[in-house]
Amino acid sequence: MRFAIVIMAAGKGTRLKSKRPKVLHEIGGKPLLAHVIAAAASVVPAEDVYVVVGHEAERVKSAVAATGVNFVLQTEQRGTGHAIQSAQSAVEKYDDILVLSGDAPLIRKETIAGIRDFHVEQKAAMTILAASPSDSHGYGRVIRKHPASVEVFAVVEQKALSPEQEKVKEVNSGFYAFQTAPLYRHISQLQTANAHGEYYLTDMAGILSAAGERVVALEAEFPEEILGANTIAELVQLDSALRDSTARRLMSQGVTIFRPETSFIDAEVEVGADTIIEPGVQLLGKTKIGQDCRIRSNSVIENTEIGDGVMIRQGSIIADSKIAAGASIGPYSHLRPGCDIGENAHVGNFVETKKVKLGKGSKANHLTYLGDAVIGAGVNVGAGTITCNYDGASKHTTTVGDGVFVGSHSTLVAPLHVGDGAFIAAASCVTEDVPADALAMGRSRQTNMPGWAKKRREMAARNKKT
Ligand code: UD1
Ligand code: CA
Repeated sequence: MRFAIVIMAAGKGTRLKSKRPKVLHEIGGKPLLAHVIAAAASVVPAEDVYVVVGHEAERVKSAVAATGVNFVLQTEQRGTGHAIQSAQSAVEKYDDILVLSGDAPLIRKETIAGIRDFHVEQKAAMTILAASPSDSHGYGRVIRKHPASVEVFAVVEQKALSPEQEKVKEVNSGFYAFQTAPLYRHISQLQTANAHGEYYLTDMAGILSAAGERVVALEAEFPEEILGANTIAELVQLDSALRDSTARRLMSQGVTIFRPETSFIDAEVEVGADTIIEPGVQLLGKTKIGQDCRIRSNSVIENTEIGDGVMIRQGSIIADSKIAAGASIGPYSHLRPGCDIGENAHVGNFVETKKVKLGKGSKANHLTYLGDAVIGAGVNVGAGTITCNYDGASKHTTTVGDGVFVGSHSTLVAPLHVGDGAFIAAASCVTEDVPADALAMGRSRQTNMPGWAKKRREMAARNKKT
């Protein structure tokens, strides 16, 4: 049986008081909607996922277009019932649909599959995932035919609850399954005579049940999974819940995270066993770290691939780069996008690199700026070396061969090529290519004036007396 999944994501999210559409707010470094799509697309193929967009539709679509899902436009946001009405022509061809909410990102694929299986087994027209969270305020309540019955009489929104219904702790999670035939046969009965003047999808429970269709509820195994983000405070809460579970996942895979509550690890980060993460580390985006590494405090690593046995010392900032096995970075290194640090290479304190390939075993240990450079293996880049990669108009590349020694405080003016085995004297300003194995000395020769300093002191002493 082929199911479609419809994700409602057209709402503005008024309660967030934000310019950004609600479903593009992020938890764990990823938009809410992207979490829901990922779960949906692991239950059905992406081509059977339909996202209802409306508010800032283009922005929402482009944020998740790469997932390959379909989009349905709800031009005016007239409620969740209206959202599903807008999807009618797209999903009518399926016998059944699952409905998810773009603002409830903790949903797991097992739960979605569980709703589907229960729905099929119960031969229901509508299946509601119910939950009993510690605080039910604000949610629609599931009113069963009898307290122990699987069948549901109606779902009643918070603002319409009678005092008797207010005692019901079982809430509507906002995740459903429907048989499309009865759903679309009866959906035109939805009315807007309610507190928000909207078409509520939840009213379909009462409508279908009154029409003699089977409406059932199943209880969620983990009530926290239904949590949605309607306010910034809720969003931040979901974010920390997700980060906690990411840290627990990594620890269960053999990663040591000291004081995990101080770390900030995005949902898709991967880390190998026996790696140690010290307090206050941020691992962001699609970062992937090997085994036996140590990531020392206050380092921030984004979209970076790190091999095995790498040491990242305190306070290093690394983005969109690659670091091979055995390398050592920091303290206080800044690797900007496009760096490729070779095996056992060292990048040391207060070294900034951008778009740099640093060969195997090469070292740039102190106070250096390397930009747009391809540096060979076994190179020593002395303290204070600078590549002048920008002439005010365009960027140029510096290439340095294997085994080169770059003396401290050298200025390498690009475009420039330094041949294998060359030696650059300290404090040189190198503006022309250096042949292999040559010595380049680009500074004025030193002159010593014997006795000059002593004479100067004596003169100063005489002047003081008079
Ligand atoms: C909804 C349910 C409530 C349930 C709760 C669970 C209704 C009427 N109420 O309330 O019973 O307990 O979820 O979290 O459904 N959307 C559209 N188009 C619209 C309106 C909303 O696509 O016209 C989307 C929103 O972007 C959002 C989702 O539908 O992703 C849910 O809407 P929201 O306004 O957040 O519903 P709740 O008030 O949370
Ligand atoms: Ca909501």
